[in-house]
Amino acid sequence: MVVRPATTVAGRVTVPGDKSISHRYALLAALAHGMSTIRGYSAGADCAATLTCLRALGVRIRHTPRGELQIDGAGFEGLAPPAGILDAANSGTTMRLMAGIAAGRPFRCVLDGDASLARRPMRRVMEPLTRMGAAIAARDWRPPLTIDGTQLHGIAHRPEVPSAQVKSAVLLAGLQALGRTTVVEPSPTRDHTERALEAFGVSVERDGASVSIEGGQRLGPRDLTVPGDISSATFWMALAAASPGSDIQIEGVGLNPTRTRVIDIVRRAGVRIDVEVHREANGEPVGRLHVTGGTPRGFSIGPEEVPAVIDEIPALAALGALLPEGERMKVAGAAELRVKESDRIACLAGGLRALGADVVEYPDGFELVAHRLTGATVDACGDHRLAMAFAVAATRAGTPATITGASSVAVSYPGFFEELARLASSGDRR
Ligand code: S3P
Repeated sequence: MVVRPATTVAGRVTVPGDKSISHRYALLAALAHGMSTIRGYSAGADCAATLTCLRALGVRIRHTPRGELQIDGAGFEGLAPPAGILDAANSGTTMRLMAGIAAGRPFRCVLDGDASLARRPMRRVMEPLTRMGAAIAARDWRPPLTIDGTQLHGIAHRPEVPSAQVKSAVLLAGLQALGRTTVVEPSPTRDHTERALEAFGVSVERDGASVSIEGGQRLGPRDLTVPGDISSATFWMALAAASPGSDIQIEGVGLNPTRTRVIDIVRRAGVRIDVEVHREANGEPVGRLHVTGGTPRGFSIGPEEVPAVIDEIPALAALGALLPEGERMKVAGAAELRVKESDRIACLAGGLRALGADVVEYPDGFELVAHRLTGATVDACGDHRLAMAFAVAATRAGTPATITGASSVAVSYPGFFEELARLASSGDRR
């Protein structure tokens, strides 16, 4: 994909349905008893992978002509042994949450995915699910996972790394377990699973860092609306933030407090963002972000805030690259970035350097010094968020840039480049 220089960005935009929430609504609708309707389900490939896995387990799902998703749940007992592998494609959330469901089913499931997913660590879910009673085999703790489910029993689990996926896998297993299951988090992560469980009628006990559920609760079908994905919105925030005269309004975006730390960080960079919460949809706050461009300054992201912005760091790095010459952006305590869809520290450093930034890489982060950017060929490493981050940075390069692996944007944001072309105008129309 060739990205041309732009000077200002302006307009209104809605972003795709939140990826994390979409996965959870589809899974819980499949586990509920009756027909649920989901509006605004993410059109990205990751969330499509969750539907593929559910269909392989015999769940009936249909897209209505109005663009809604209808899922006919028949409870955990309604899931049938799959005829083949469950293909999570590029989606870590699909694999880890599906593992929590498969762990309690009385049949074998083999969960696999693409080459990127095959490199990602699964011990973090295998260990607690095994403790609950499931038999899980994998080579070197990586996909494919062969899961022989069984009657589970509740546990108390303290994950070593903060992870909403691990918390969610254990809670989904806990729903099928005898007794009580508790997860105590080392630091807070997104709480969409807790909110979604409550929306489906499950009683969830939350006490500080700990969340517990009793097994055997029944889920009722629901009509749900998925808010826009704030992680996708961050690319537009970064794009608007660093161009004086820019003005972007992002409508219908999810503003769950476990996801809005990114707004604080962008504001810390001196950017004006007005936030309006308009409503709650199934326990998730939704509203508008209004970003006014200016001249941002350097900023740092510390270890204590990394778990809250782990998916937004590529977009924030793009903002770093767009800072005025000599300004710095630093991230520390983010070793988890190395085991995302790509090694996001190495790939971000490589791509932003190619565009002209100075980047020093550390085992758990990086430091960037902004310089004038120039067009170059940059490799997104097959990672959707890196493709979008490089595209945002490339709009301020002096010459066109080429992004390889750009089709990966379909994982979370099909239509991203069309939206970029619509919002970004160029002073130079040659
Ligand atoms: C997600 C949790 C995060 C995030 C991922 C989606 C989720 O991963 O990076 O994109 O939907 O629960 P971890 O839980 O592994 O940190």
